Amino acid sequence: MAEHVLVTAAWPYANSHIHVGNITGSYLPADIFARYQRLAGRRVLMVSGSDAHGTPVTVRADAEGKTPLQVYLEFHSSFLDLFQKLGLTYDLFTSTHTENHFKVSQAMFLALKKTGNLYTDRQKQWYAPSQKRFLPDRYVEGTCYICGYPNARGDQCDNCGNLLDATQLIDPRSKIDGSTPELLETEHFYLDLAKLQPALVDYLRTREHFWRPNVLRQSLGQILTEGLHGRAITRDLDWGIPVPVEGWEGKCLYVWFEAVIGYLSAAIEWSQLEGQAGAWRDWWTQPEARTYYFIGKDNIPFHAIIWPAQLIGTGEWFGKIFEERDSGPLNLPYDVPANEFMNLEGRKISGSRNWAVWGLDFLSRYDPDPLRYYLTANMPETKDTDWDWSGFVRRNNDELVATWGNLANRVLSFSYKHWDGCVPVPGELRPEDQEILAAVEAGFKTVGNFLNTTSFRAALAEAMRLATEVNKYLDKAAPWFEIKSDKEAAAKSIYTALKAIDSLKVLFAPFLPHTSERLHTYLGYQQPLFGEQYVETVQDSLGEHQVLRYNPAAASGKWAPSELEPGKALQKPEPLFRKLDESVIEEERARLG
Ligand code: MF3
Ligand code: ZN
Repeated sequence: MAEHVLVTAAWPYANSHIHVGNITGSYLPADIFARYQRLAGRRVLMVSGSDAHGTPVTVRADAEGKTPLQVYLEFHSSFLDLFQKLGLTYDLFTSTHTENHFKVSQAMFLALKKTGNLYTDRQKQWYAPSQKRFLPDRYVEGTCYICGYPNARGDQCDNCGNLLDATQLIDPRSKIDGSTPELLETEHFYLDLAKLQPALVDYLRTREHFWRPNVLRQSLGQILTEGLHGRAITRDLDWGIPVPVEGWEGKCLYVWFEAVIGYLSAAIEWSQLEGQAGAWRDWWTQPEARTYYFIGKDNIPFHAIIWPAQLIGTGEWFGKIFEERDSGPLNLPYDVPANEFMNLEGRKISGSRNWAVWGLDFLSRYDPDPLRYYLTANMPETKDTDWDWSGFVRRNNDELVATWGNLANRVLSFSYKHWDGCVPVPGELRPEDQEILAAVEAGFKTVGNFLNTTSFRAALAEAMRLATEVNKYLDKAAPWFEIKSDKEAAAKSIYTALKAIDSLKVLFAPFLPHTSERLHTYLGYQQPLFGEQYVETVQDSLGEHQVLRYNPAAASGKWAPSELEPGKALQKPEPLFRKLDESVIEEERARLG
């Protein structure tokens, strides 16, 4: 396994709040993976940021009478808040609206131009004479040329559901002022995907044996059946990154083209903030490094076709143009573990209809680890899943509280009470003690393998199965009875159970970092398992932006079985989880819609 692991999660559009479907789709799996790899001793760099540009943000700004900058900043700061509370340990969560990202994106554009992988072409687009600007498809409304619905959007008809060719709308009007637009020719740069196709296919074939089937189907499968053709990567829009070519003033890089470049620019920004300007190359140009992209299924084509095509097309030219230094080609995605969708109470999540469980709202009433637990246990890894409030309450109460939380709490409290706040000194362990410890120890392999191959549900289920085994061991040994007749025997049982819990704490830590950290202190450790998150303000020529960071300096956690010392002083324990009342189910359902 590679020493350097780049972990990335999709960049959320800075135009709406984040709900549980987004969290389980990409941000949470990325964090679980990053935390595990750090525990396993690898050099992890986890990056992402706000997707600040393009029509998603301008449409919202227009609707609210704000500037795109205001809208982006508002949502960006709510993302930082949510991710910090959820414990998503981005080494850097930044944004696409930074000077560095502009420069990196423009350098990649120029590299693709240099290598002959861009061409220009003309197309017709609606133009609003009243405003002297071209209208993006979403800004034009008119009569659907398929079903006759009078209020179809330029990109799609809400009545018949068809994707539309905006130029064919009947009786078009501008969404901004109702004026009638005219069709004018406009020129754009295109990424020559047809030319890049053979190299792309060669690359995707090397991934055939381990990528998820849904990702292969939407990349290699689709290319082989349909083939690729050029794609416009510039737009007539002023909120975004200027096309760095003379005579192209007033045009921007297409938001998807530049957003994916964020994976590279964020690594570079991180290096600069660390004061080690070239450090990003350990993840980006060292061939042994592995790069992972955690995304939802709607993003597959952009990450498994277009982004690799951009990287292949760039060749060795990025370094030469960006920093006048030949740093070799950039690494292609090692894996793109895309998730399916999570529904809510049997229906598709819809932000506009408030059919959603919002991250920040949820955390105003509940703790982060139960959320992380439920979202992992129901992660849509291979098929769509469903958030169901009764399922949430049941899993919280039966699994987190009854199986794991109570195990930790009763053993710690008992030990704390009967051995003067210390770990009992067990003497020689009995065969049954050694057996349960060996079973838990084996979990570092089994759970670790599942984590390494991004099978998070299976990994969590295996950790929980081991907790159940430890419960069984404890019920059988029954130290609460042993202690009355034979305190030495009870010491062996409790020591064994404490050691098992100390190991389980690590096995659960990637999923349940907050409670594992607390348990770690109850077990008397001084150094935390993980490092610290913090927010920092960065100043550049575009203004100020806040970023979320992670400082690993204090982290002491290791993916290895407990070495708990007999006689070690414990801290007074508190319950790790709280039981939820059944009434929560109806209360929460009433908030929907
Ligand atoms: N903003 C996009 C979405 O929310 C995801 C962009 S991922 C990136 O669907 F890599 F392109 F930034
Ligand atoms: Zn229609």
